[in-house]
Amino acid sequence: MHGEVVSRKKIIAGNWKMNFTSQEAEVFLKKLVPLVKANMNSEIILCVPFVDIELAKRETTGTNIKIGAQNCYFEKSGAFTGEISAEMLRSLGVEYVILGHSERRTYFLENDKIINKKVKAALDENLKAIVCVGETAQQKEWLETNEVVFSQVSAALQGIKAEDLKNIIFAYEPMWSIGTGKTANFEIARRVCAYIKKIVKNLYEEQLPSDIATLYGGSVNAKNVKQILSKDTIDGSLIGGASLDVEEFSEIINIAEAIL
Ligand code: 13P
Repeated sequence: MHGEVVSRKKIIAGNWKMNFTSQEAEVFLKKLVPLVKANMNSEIILCVPFVDIELAKRETTGTNIKIGAQNCYFEKSGAFTGEISAEMLRSLGVEYVILGHSERRTYFLENDKIINKKVKAALDENLKAIVCVGETAQQKEWLETNEVVFSQVSAALQGIKAEDLKNIIFAYEPMWSIGTGKTANFEIARRVCAYIKKIVKNLYEEQLPSDIATLYGGSVNAKNVKQILSKDTIDGSLIGGASLDVEEFSEIINIAEAIL
């Protein structure tokens, strides 16, 4: 198994960010559900705002669409006004949580230590963590991508047991490509995803049954997703803007299905 790229089902994860009231979410999901086939090979995830979770769970019951959150706090409970725990998410039937998104790192000053604690909290509640990593425009210019990715990946995994890695997905999201219409060069994205798999293997001394799943995110849409998903080390995509358009998002899902 060493050094092999294991082909797995493609993961299409939408990140709605701070968009859609419950009413808007309901309209979206009522349109999306009939567009998504019952038996999909791909893993479809929608990471919705906290307030839309209950509704999203209800609207997607019996479908292939899994619901995720976009953040959680690392403490179990207590005086942390405004925060949401991993247990609260779990109790609503949430299966995934995005952690360490660059918008959280930038606007909410989350550092690698905080993100690591959040990953542990999520895993403790049996949530699957989608951990985002990626360089800034300046770091890219200074050819520091690998260095940044290495430090973010290894920090996120501090103290995480090998057996829990199956519940972690890394999303390579170069910060300069998010919401800008500038996608990373697909070959570079392929290499960075390969590098993430290698970092994890090295950290765990190659004792992994299979590679860790890696997604690419940053200006992915229905036009470019096929090229991205065709790269052997890219197991799926984390999609922001294009996940807000129900026709485009379902087209992306169909493209992912056709690749299998
Ligand atoms: P865009 O697809 O809008 O560039 O956003 C990517 C992203 O941040 C997903 O988490």
